Amino acid sequence: CRLVVLISGRGSNLQAIGELIKTAGLNGRIEAVISNKGDAPGLEWAQRQGLPTETVSHREFATREAFDQALARVIDRYQPDYVLLAGFMRILSTDFVQHYAGKLINIHPSLLPSFPGLNTHQQALDAGVQFHGCSVHFVTPVLDDGPILAQSIVPVLHDDDAQTLAERVLATEHQVYTQAVRWLIEGRVRLQADGRVEVAGLA
Ligand code: GRF
Repeated sequence: CRLVVLISGRGSNLQAIGELIKTAGLNGRIEAVISNKGDAPGLEWAQRQGLPTETVSHREFATREAFDQALARVIDRYQPDYVLLAGFMRILSTDFVQHYAGKLINIHPSLLPSFPGLNTHQQALDAGVQFHGCSVHFVTPVLDDGPILAQSIVPVLHDDDAQTLAERVLATEHQVYTQAVRWLIEGRVRLQADGRVEVAGLA
């Protein structure tokens, strides 16, 4: 199973996925790590692992569509079975999303459909919810709205601020994303007609 991972920064989810691939003996491989930011720390980590890396800088393109087309051309060189967005901070155009329909996965730091978009931890605090978490989902043209593959749940504590809540969620992101990637590599994931995800072999 050929994976391409897209990042924009730290790449902690990338590193968790890299560790899974290295230790779990799965039939999957990270074929390339691609960033829209040349200085993303996750690129250095990937290079130290000997993984191919690419930078496609959105600043070099006049339009979102031109950037997305250039990005897709680079991704397609690696012929991925799945494209994993991991801290990739760009909104992708409908054409791009449809080009990778059923193969494009994202992790979003909230319990979707609650709190799409940015600053999800502050949104959760402002809403006074008692539980929060992250969601791994198939990407569709509607932002942070696709079929959900896996979620984590964490308590919101009375003295939480956005930072403490983000840290609690981030720790679960690594568990949830690697679990979802394992299911994808094992070929156990089916997108059903009603837009829900079925994972074969789960109780
Ligand atoms: C994480 O909170 C993730 O949910 C969001 O970007 C943040 C950074 O992720 N998409 P990473 O450490 O770069 O993987």
